[in-house]
Amino acid sequence: MGKQSQYVSRQPDEHGIIDWSDEENAVWRDLVARQLKHIPGKACDEYMAGLELLDMPLDRIPQLHEINAVLEATTGWQVAQVPALIPFDKFFELLANKQFPVATFIRTREEFDYLQEPDIFHEIFGHCPLLTNPAFAHFTHQYGKLGLNATPKERVYLARLYWFTVEFGLLQTKDGLRIYGGGILSSPGETEYAIHSDKPERKPLVPLDALRTPYRIDIMQPIYYTIESTDKLFEIADLDIMALVHEAMELGLFEPKFPPKNAA
Ligand SMILES: [Fe+2]
Repeated sequence: MGKQSQYVSRQPDEHGIIDWSDEENAVWRDLVARQLKHIPGKACDEYMAGLELLDMPLDRIPQLHEINAVLEATTGWQVAQVPALIPFDKFFELLANKQFPVATFIRTREEFDYLQEPDIFHEIFGHCPLLTNPAFAHFTHQYGKLGLNATPKERVYLARLYWFTVEFGLLQTKDGLRIYGGGILSSPGETEYAIHSDKPERKPLVPLDALRTPYRIDIMQPIYYTIESTDKLFEIADLDIMALVHEAMELGLFEPKFPPKNAA
């Protein structure tokens, strides 16, 4: 959001169907095939269960109505077709209505490994399996409602909590570390790094700390916050998050654990 994008979302026809090209479908096929190899033993059980429920096509980009049928039956969520970049107001309004925005474009082969804009692979493969999980769905809904009523400055703080949960959250389970964050689950490199690398710090999630932790969107994360199960997201959603936001605003940010973006 904000900034510019080289991508333009594909428009659906009057039946909501998008006519993806063979190359776009092939990019999806290759992304899914690669990521399916990386996630066993790394993605959390809730994600794997959601993936099975969604039963996505392997050889073509799914149509949104196919995803919606499963989300509707599980948590009542929907995916909503949006342009490549949408304003924050629109983003929060959609989440507050249990609609998960999906920009209907897919990355080019030149950006196969990483792109900053969330494409349909990130949104559907990365996030939609967890949207079948009641705790994750509830948390995301609460976040949307809070964000909708927040000021721009409060939103910047709120966004950090989203970042360290929905996008880059890890579970510390009895079987070891597992991933639930969609930003990780749509990236093979970070899927491996988040679980096995000894470089990043991993700490139990304290919501106030997450709100105060700076992040960059263009590097592997130097810190991940863990929760013991996705059910913890119910508890976090029921905290007075805006009071924590205000506390975080008073206390200020932690020192970044990464170099400034423009450092040589
Ligand atoms: Fe995302």
